[in-house]
Amino acid sequence: MRIISVANQKGGCGKTTVAVNMAAALSRLGSKTLLIDMDPQAHATYAMGYTERSSERRTSYDIFRSHFDNIQFPTEELVINDRELLHFIPANMMLSAAEINLGGMNGAAAILSNTLKDPFFDQYEYVIIDSPPSFGFLTLNAMYSADTIIVPMDLSYFSFNGINSLYRVTGLLEEETGRRPGVFFVLNIYDQRTRFARQLETDAKNKLGPYLLETRIRGSVRIKEAAKNGKTIFEYDPKCSSALDFYNMTSELLTAEKIRHDILMKEFMLHAPKAGKVYVLGDFNGWEKTEANRLNKLENGTWSAHFNLKRGKYRYKFLVDDNWTYDPENPKREQNIFGTVDSVIEF
Ligand SMILES: Nc1ncnc2c1ncn2[C@@H]1O[C@H](COP(=O)(O)OP(=O)(O)OP(=O)(O)O)[C@@H](O)[C@H]1O
Ligand SMILES: [Mg+2]
Repeated sequence: MRIISVANQKGGCGKTTVAVNMAAALSRLGSKTLLIDMDPQAHATYAMGYTERSSERRTSYDIFRSHFDNIQFPTEELVINDRELLHFIPANMMLSAAEINLGGMNGAAAILSNTLKDPFFDQYEYVIIDSPPSFGFLTLNAMYSADTIIVPMDLSYFSFNGINSLYRVTGLLEEETGRRPGVFFVLNIYDQRTRFARQLETDAKNKLGPYLLETRIRGSVRIKEAAKNGKTIFEYDPKCSSALDFYNMTSELLTAEKIRHDILMKEFMLHAPKAGKVYVLGDFNGWEKTEANRLNKLENGTWSAHFNLKRGKYRYKFLVDDNWTYDPENPKREQNIFGTVDSVIEF
C-alpha cells in the first residue's frame, strides 16, 4: 500500500481536484484505490457525488471519534464501495470537531496513520488523502501517514512561503518518525500563454528542480463541470484534455520517485534580524533575483529557504537589502572573477 497525501495550506489551489482525479486515474490504471476526504468542507465528498448526511453513515470523523467517544465499529463501515476499484471515505463538517477534541493530545498526528495499519486496508494498492487548506491537525495526520505528498500549485497566486513551511513540517515529521515523505509539486490551472505564468514556472523549476512534475494540469471548464456533477473527470468526459493531464500526471508520479535519488534538499540560512529582504543567489538558480530565490524570515531573525539540488558543486551568495554577502556560517569560500568571495557548497 502506498499512501499519497495532497496538501497545500493555500486554499483553492486544486488539492481536491487533484486528489479526486489522481485517485480516479490510479483506479483506471487497474489499481484498487481508496480516496479519503480529510477536509471538513467535504468538497471531495461532493465531487465524488455524495451529499453530506452526517447521521446516516460513517465518515472520516469516526476515525478520530473512536479515540475519545470509545465507540467500536467494523472498519469496513467507513468505506463507500459503489465504484469497483475506487473506494471512498467521505467527510462532513463534524470533522472540524476532531481538531478541537484531539489537537493537543499526545500522538494525535499519528491517528490516521495507525488506522491505516488495520489489515482491512491491505486490499488497497493506493490510498489518496485530500486535506484542508491549513497545516493543522488534519493535514498533519494526512502528512504523517504519507509516503508521498503532492502539492498542487495555482500559479496565479503563487506563493513560495507555503513551500518553505511545507518543507519545515516534513523536516519535523522526519525528526519524529525517522522518515521523510517524498514531496512533488504540480502546476494547476496552468495557462502557458501568459508571460506571468511562464516566469513563475521558471522560478518554480529553479527552486524545485526535478520535484516539479513536468505534467501541468491545464485550466479547463470540464474539471469544474465534472466536480459539479459529482463525477471524476474520467467518468464525466474520459476523452477531454483534462483527463489526459491527470492520467499523465499520475503516471509521471509513479515513476518519478525511482529516478530522483541524486537530488538533495538544501536549506540556506542567514541570521539578519534587521534585514528587509534576503535572497540567495548562486549557480543553482542562475543568480537571478526573483521571488523563488527569496528567503523567509523566521521568528528568531534568521532567514531561510530550501532548494532541491542535484549533487555537485555550487557557488552562492546572499543578497541582503541589495548588499552582497558570503555565507558567514559556511567556511568554504572561493575567489570569483570580480575579486570578491563566493561561498561554495559541494555534496
Ligand atoms: N485545472 C483546473 N481547471 C479549472 N478549474 C479548476 C482546476 N483545478 C481546480 N479548479 C476549480 O477551482 C476550484 C478550487 O479547486 P479545489 O477545490 O480543487 O481546490 P482546493 O485546493 O481543494 O481548495 P480548498 O483549499 O478550499 O480545499 C474548484 O471550483 C475547482 O473546480
Ligand atoms: Mg479542497
